[in-house]
Amino acid sequence: MAHTSTTHLLDPTLLTAIVDDLADKGWSQHDLFIPQGLTRELAAECQQRATDGRLAPAAVGRGATAQVRESVRGDSIQWLEPGESTATDAYLSYMDQLRQALNQALYLGLNDYESHFALYPPGAFYQRHVDRFRDDDRRTVSAVLYLNDSWLAEQGGALRIYPADEEHDVLPLGGRLVIFMSGELPHEVLPATRQRLSLTGWFRRRA
Ligand code: OGA
Ligand code: MN
Repeated sequence: MAHTSTTHLLDPTLLTAIVDDLADKGWSQHDLFIPQGLTRELAAECQQRATDGRLAPAAVGRGATAQVRESVRGDSIQWLEPGESTATDAYLSYMDQLRQALNQALYLGLNDYESHFALYPPGAFYQRHVDRFRDDDRRTVSAVLYLNDSWLAEQGGALRIYPADEEHDVLPLGGRLVIFMSGELPHEVLPATRQRLSLTGWFRRRA
């Protein structure tokens, strides 16, 4: 496919809204974070990687104890590297703008960003968890971009977050970004009746 993405500056109003939400309540949601055309290119790339067999079952935990446990999480993933495509590079560039805005406003000292495509087949889920590892506290801010067309509530697949032990569902609608403090917000992915695509990543600080 043709990659036509060019990166523009994120809207300062959007960045301010994200920063304010994170400071006030620890999470934020936006439906048009990046241009729609880029979301479509990223969705097509995720789909193509799946078709090419490049996604692999995701592990739980990290390092020597990492293992695939479908009773905990059932998605397949592939980590992004710089230089893979125009679309992924454009996304990485937007996320770097966001990283700098978070550092300027919240002094988080975020110094890198890691991310992966994720595909949940129908019925797959990810049990309630927090994103920060027990033995590694570098993950500070989590960001999930959804890559699905016209999602309906009855199709399941919500991201269920538990801010202050309340419950809030976010449908994985294409172009929607959810961002939250990695060490603070418990969340889970509910099973869906259809395939569910996303691009999930973490801003990290030094160990
Ligand atoms: C994760 C995760 C949420 C989602 O990958 O850690 O919680 O909505 N993903 O895909
Ligand atoms: Mn998570």
